[in-house]
Amino acid sequence: MSTQHPTADPAAGAAVKAADRAHVFHSWSAQGLIDPLAVAGAEGSYFWDYDGNRYLDFSCQLVNTNIGHQHPKVVAAIQEQAARMCTIAPGFAVDVRSEAARLVAERTPGDLDKIFFTNGGAEAVENAVRMARLHTGRPKVLSAYRSYHGATATAINLTGDPRRWPSDTASAGVVHFWAPFLYRSPFHSGSEQQECERALAHLEDTIVFEGPATVAAIILETVPGTAGIMVPPPGYLAGVREICDRYGIVFVLDEVMAGFGRTGRWFAADHFGVTPDLLTFAKGVNSGYVPLGGVAISAEIAATFDERPYPGGLTYSGHPLACASAVATINAMAEEGIVENAARIGEQVLGPGLRELAERHPSVGEVRGLGVFWAVELVKDRATREPLVPYNAAGEANAPMGAFAAACKKSGLWPFVNMNRTHVVPPCTVTEEEAKEGLAILDEALTVADGFTV
Ligand SMILES: Cc1ncc(COP(=O)(O)O)c(C=O)c1O
Repeated sequence: MSTQHPTADPAAGAAVKAADRAHVFHSWSAQGLIDPLAVAGAEGSYFWDYDGNRYLDFSCQLVNTNIGHQHPKVVAAIQEQAARMCTIAPGFAVDVRSEAARLVAERTPGDLDKIFFTNGGAEAVENAVRMARLHTGRPKVLSAYRSYHGATATAINLTGDPRRWPSDTASAGVVHFWAPFLYRSPFHSGSEQQECERALAHLEDTIVFEGPATVAAIILETVPGTAGIMVPPPGYLAGVREICDRYGIVFVLDEVMAGFGRTGRWFAADHFGVTPDLLTFAKGVNSGYVPLGGVAISAEIAATFDERPYPGGLTYSGHPLACASAVATINAMAEEGIVENAARIGEQVLGPGLRELAERHPSVGEVRGLGVFWAVELVKDRATREPLVPYNAAGEANAPMGAFAAACKKSGLWPFVNMNRTHVVPPCTVTEEEAKEGLAILDEALTVADGFTV
């Protein structure tokens, strides 16, 4: 089903690949074992290689191109800003930085009205933790197993997935706890309500036994992303908010992946009516056209640094090209109803379509999500819920997921695959036709996964 693209130029692709293999050191990879696809171009919901293969991007790269590839208004804004002023130090006030901060603050919940800009998500998490520690004078931060918060020192220690293990210094003041996830309940719960109550009791016990006066912050992804898109049960986040208030703990919501339209609202927190003290963002703020992230800060925490200097900074904090692209992105999202489109596609196309696939394919244990943020949990056995591949499987043990991903790619769909799951995370701009095209390819590829069930 992959379509030929006019830019096919295999010789150019081979040269790109050769230089990559000679000189580019890739993230998260055994350098000798990878075979990166050389990409020639991208537009809207698609990208293509040099061999004439076009892919429907159901991964949004790393779940960041919320407005799709090459949105013309954002490309133009970056070009205009580049012609006007490429860079300026963070100490100055500049129009695009002021405007980007205003537009973000206008959309974040409650009184999160001051914005500290970073270059991405991990730096946002690092700075949120620094702010929480300085604000409370306490050392520890609690985060969930089944989470991802970034790859820098504190962020990787906070992360709850196996990417932490090689970098786990056990010295970052981090304590992990279990957040709710009914399908694989750590609390053996039988209902959402029970899962919520037990998860809150477990969190409070953890705080009491750690010593409340030692805990600066709790950080949670509002809807955990890479770890499996587990939408929290009603009442959970409000319960965490209440626990934080009771013990004087800063509540940090990490919206790096879930924010800026992904769940069909500007922020995932909007679904739950909860306002954190700090909110981290990146990715969708400008769809990654230029690296940008940040922390939205409550009035109370911001006031801590009214008279006392904030001891943190970055050469490129609030970079003009990044901020110009954020301004154009947020305005385009508002003008074009892009957040509303994500909500509608989730409710009317992806949700029903994925549930229908779940009925027909024995390899699908559960589908869950919101907006354009869905996980399909693949299992060997629906009755026992044994995952299609073991936790953190590699090599031969991961072959079933490899075969599923290869089937998607062969039919022109670029999937997001993590452990035993595929995440259906197209752009918020995805059309109904594109979403249906993707569902049809998933349908075919799931027959491959079905072949590995018992
Ligand atoms: C929830 C969450 N937090 C933080 C990060 C780290 O962001 P970055 O890779 O921009 O440092 C990610 C990246 O995937 C994320 O999903």
